[in-house]
This record gives sequence, C-alpha cells and structure tokens, in this order.
Amino acid sequence: MARSGAAVLGWVGGIPTYSHAWELHPLVVRQDVRGQGIGQALVTAWEERVRERGALTLYLGTDDDGPEPGTSAGGVSLFPGVLSHAATLAVRDHAAGFYRRLGFEVVGLISDANGPGKADVLMAKSLAAAASSTSGR
Ligand SMILES: CC(C)(COP(=O)(O)OP(=O)(O)OC[C@H]1O[C@@H](n2cnc3c(N)ncnc32)[C@H](O)[C@@H]1OP(=O)(O)O)[C@@H](O)C(=O)NCCC(=O)NCCS
Repeated sequence: MARSGAAVLGWVGGIPTYSHAWELHPLVVRQDVRGQGIGQALVTAWEERVRERGALTLYLGTDDDGPEPGTSAGGVSLFPGVLSHAATLAVRDHAAGFYRRLGFEVVGLISDANGPGKADVLMAKSLAAAASSTSGR
C-alpha cells in the first residue's frame, strides 16, 4: 500500500496461483496522484516481495473494456489468429503501456472477455534470470 500520512494513495496485491508464478491483482493508484511514479513504486516493491518467496514468473490481465478501445485488441474480433493480434498489440492509452514500461510483455488475449470487442490483455514478466544470478552468488 502507498500512503501519505493517513491517506491511501495506491494499492497492490498478488495471488500465488502456481508454485512459482504469481498473478498481480489488484493494482490501483488514486486518480488525482497518477503519473507521479506511485504505480511503478508499488509494482517494484511487490516484485521484491514475491521474488523473496520464490516467484519466477509474474503475470496479470488488464482489461481493454473502456468506452473507447485503448489497444488494438479492443473493438475487433480476435478470432481467428488471436496470437497474431497479441504479437502486434499496439497500445494507445491503456494500462498495458504502463506494464510494458515495467518489463511485462503480452502473452495472450482473451477475446470478448468483457463483452463483444472488449478483450483482456494477458501480460507476463520473468524473474528467472534475476533468481539464477542471485542463487549463483
Ligand atoms: C495503471 C496505473 C496503476 C499506473 O499508475 P501511475 O502511478 O499513474 O503510474 P506511474 O506514474 O508509476 O508510471 C510509470 C511509467 O508508466 C507510464 N504510464 C503510466 N500509465 C500509462 C499508460 N496508461 N499508458 C502508457 N504509459 C503509462 C508513465 O508515463 C511512467 O513512464 P516513465 O517512467 O517513462 O515516466 C494507474 O493509472 C491506475 O491506477 N489506473 C487505473 C486502474 C488500473 O488500470 N489498474 C491496472 C489494472 S490491470
């Protein structure tokens, strides 16, 4: 949790869904303090916590379900050829851009997850290289 005094500025959580992979969920920063590095600080701190618990892979789903599509996966039919849409995903204004900055890459798309043309963008990041370099010390 990110705080300023008693005020909560943001919140991050994680779910240990596999033995070595954690889902990042939820993540939110208070609207009036976005764009100040709080989201990045929350995710970085969370990554450290789960790394200490043996995580090798982090993943998440970020919905493109706004009134206007925020990515090239929004507002279109993704079948057939879902993976080609995933491989070429363009981000306009969407949290997927934030996660890309933090090293996550697109690993899949759930077509129509939130209604017609409203996809969920699946993203993941490896901690394996960092884990093996740490254990090799
Ligand atoms: C997504 C969210 C958590 C980002 O938090 P934030 O505190 O505004 O992000 P930061 O200020 O730490 O941004 C870190 C970097 O990501 C970039 N970034 C942030 N939001 C972005 C967006 N929507 N698209 C592209 N890049 C973005 C920033 O420009 C910054 O880049 P820089 O380091 O080059 O300056 C916040 O916008 C939010 O709470 N959104 C609503 C809830 C949400 O979408 N949660 C995720 C659900 S999966």
